[in-house]
Amino acid sequence: MRILKVIISALIFNFFALNANAQSLYEKLGENPKIHKIMVRTLELSMEDERIAFTLERSDLDRLAQLLTDQTCELTGGPCKYEGVDMKKAHVGLGLTTGHFNALVEHLQQAMREENISNRTQNQLLALFAPMHRDVVEK
Ligand code: HEM
Repeated sequence: MRILKVIISALIFNFFALNANAQSLYEKLGENPKIHKIMVRTLELSMEDERIAFTLERSDLDRLAQLLTDQTCELTGGPCKYEGVDMKKAHVGLGLTTGHFNALVEHLQQAMREENISNRTQNQLLALFAPMHRDVVEK
């Protein structure tokens, strides 16, 4: 009976200890202020990249950075609501290729590195964006 009590106490302790350590991806990314900084930087690097700058030439980059921040926040377990259009609608007619997609991902990785986001956390975010490839890329 005593041993059972010890085991149950240990299980309860572990449950709370593990939960206390379980940071959401949103938290690991540094929450909204850091996510916003990362998105602004991603767009800045994209505008310096002749492979993709032309796609963003006529966009309101402040608005786009905010939408990307909301979307990332919601996807990673943060308290936001993305209110932009779906990924297919957002990119229809832009004629984006896998090359364009990979270029943007490169800049997102660079922006995350600059904010000292660990590789593991970077990969977790990229894994959430990867399935959007099919809606973003047209050829
Ligand atoms: C996983 C990859 C991507 C994500 C998560 C993403 C996300 C978004 C979001 C949230 C919007 C705003 C939608 C709205 O206006 O309601 C948007 C629009 C846009 N995206 Fe992407 N995007 C991705 C890939 C790309 C790529 C690869 C390019 C070009 C290289 C691109 C170029 C654009 C452009 C030009 C717009 C329109 C901006 C405007 O309305 O002015 N996106 N994207």
